[in-house]
Order: sequence, then structure tokens, then C-alpha cells
Amino acid sequence: MLLVHTNIYNLIKHFVFISFFGWRAYSYYGKWSASWFMMFRTKSEMLKIVFIDVRCLNVVMPDYSVEARGVTKVYRSGSIEVDALTDVSFSLQRGDFAAIVGPSGSGKSTLMNLLGTIDKPTRGEIYIDGVPTSKMDGNRLADFRNKKLGFIFQAFNLINGLDAEKNAELPLMVDPMPESERKKKADALLTKLGLGNRLRLNPTQLSGGEQQRVAIARALVRDPVLILADEPTGDLDSKNSEEVVQLLNDISKSGKVTIIMVTHNLDLTKYCNRVIHIKDGRIEKDAYVKEARTKKR
Ligand SMILES: Nc1ncnc2c1ncn2[C@@H]1O[C@H](COP(=O)(O)OP(=O)(O)OP(=O)(O)O)[C@@H](O)[C@H]1O
Ligand SMILES: [Mg+2]
Repeated sequence: MLLVHTNIYNLIKHFVFISFFGWRAYSYYGKWSASWFMMFRTKSEMLKIVFIDVRCLNVVMPDYSVEARGVTKVYRSGSIEVDALTDVSFSLQRGDFAAIVGPSGSGKSTLMNLLGTIDKPTRGEIYIDGVPTSKMDGNRLADFRNKKLGFIFQAFNLINGLDAEKNAELPLMVDPMPESERKKKADALLTKLGLGNRLRLNPTQLSGGEQQRVAIARALVRDPVLILADEPTGDLDSKNSEEVVQLLNDISKSGKVTIIMVTHNLDLTKYCNRVIHIKDGRIEKDAYVKEARTKKR
């Protein structure tokens, strides 16, 4: 944040503020500065005040649900270093359904682990809902992950012995929520995903496509900002793969959630509005493809 000062009094004020609170506070707590300036600035400088207020709003309402800035990941084991990701930057908004594609070993799962806050970047930062995640640890990070993120896995990872409804409501167990409300939420989601008549069945009694739909309900049940799906169709046949990805497309179109899916199946990217190509740990190509997504199939 750079401001043009018109008189020496203003300059001294800023200098005193920075000396007491440091540069970080100076730019982060722009709101304080804004009200401060309003008391002292002349009429002709109103535009500058508006500029500061808009900046403050941006702190409260981030532009992007996900933002990777200069993300680099180096794995070290002994003297060996592997550059899994190098300087990866992109941003996505709510409602985006992005595919991450690339050859085996190109860094797709590494990126998903970083976005999922399961691992930390060596350099760079990942912002989820405007919050920088790399400095968060312990309970705070676990809490943040539970609230903001949903995961869908290739192998579904449902718990055998629990029926579809119980599997879908599992993430809500950490909330102080009455059981009836948990059930209501899980039932509504499963019904929406076409499993209203499968609530009492165990994972072993469900088809692969049905199991993945239960896993999608489980990922959605806490209204996350971001859903991460690493090869969600890897264990499905082509018909079920299409159905599951079509479903993810519909969910993202609600505009409430961003979905990122890793896939080896380029054909499935036609359901996405963004395709990010990764090669040797770098973004090789990154494009919005609005046409493809809206086309009637
Ligand atoms: N824990 C680790 N320690 C050391 N190297 C790792 C580790 N995890 C991944 N790598 C290396 O980082 C690179 C990227 O791996 P990653 O699993 O992200 O690839 P990928 O694109 O997901 O591949 P695939 O399509 O086969 O799943 C690879 O060279 C891999 O060997
Ligand atoms: Mg992988």
C-alpha cells in the first residue's frame, strides 16, 4: 500500500504508525488507517480514502476461493532432492470446476496435498478463501481443513459397517449438532445425488458409482469452499466415470463451491471450465474453456 502524502504532518503520522506497529500491521490493518486518514485528509483527497476502503473490503471478501502463489515443493531424502513443483501459480473462483492433467510423476498429487493443507510448500503460499495456509498448524489447521475442504478419493474410502447415511454424515460428528439434524442434512444430500433409496445400504452393497456418490455427499456435507478429488473416477468404468464427473459439474455450477479434479482421462475435462496442464512440476498450459462446459451433451 503506497500513499501520496500532501503535508509533512501526514508523513509524520505514518512514520510514527510504522515505527510502533511495523510494516505488516500498516498494510494489513488498512481499515484503521482508512478511518485515520478520514479525520485528517482534505476534501480533494476523497478518492484516496475510497481506495483504502475498497482494499479493506477485499480483506473481508476474498476474490478467489483458491489461490496458489509461486508454489514450489522440493522433497528431500538425505542428499537427494526432487523438485516436485516449481513456481506454480493460479487462482480459482467459487463455481469453477478445474481439471488438473499431466503425465505420471508431473506433480498433480503433490499439488493436491498442498491445496488440501496435508503438506506445506517449500516456497510460496496457498490461500483458501483468502486465508494463507502455510503458517497454520495443529488444531487450527485441522479445524480449518474440516470447515473449508472436502476430499474425494479414487478408492472412495467409505467405512464398511456404516450405511450410506452414516458415512455421509461422518464429517458432521465433530460439530455440536443434534443427530436428527445431521441425518436430515445427509439424507437431503444423498437424495439429491440420486441415492434416496440407498440410505440403509452398506458400501459393500453399493456399486462403484454409488459409493463414489456417497463419498461426494460426505465431501459436501459441511458446505466446503473447495473440494479436492484426486482421480475420483480411477476405479470406475466409463459410464460411471461420466456420471460422477457430470455430477461434480452440476455441483460446481451452484456457484457455492470450487472443485479441483485430477484426472488421466482427458475426455472428462470437457465437463470442466478450466484445464490446468502440469509437466515436470510446472504449469505448461492453463485455460478457461467455458464453451465446452455449457455445451449440451
Ligand atoms: N514423499 C515423497 N518423497 C520424495 N519424492 C516424492 C514424494 N512424493 C512424490 N514424490 C516425487 O514427486 C514427483 C511428483 O509426484 P506426484 O505423486 O505428485 O505425481 P503425480 O502427477 O500425482 O503422478 P501420478 O499421475 O502417477 O499419480 C515424482 O517425481 C515423485 O517421485
Ligand atoms: Mg498422483
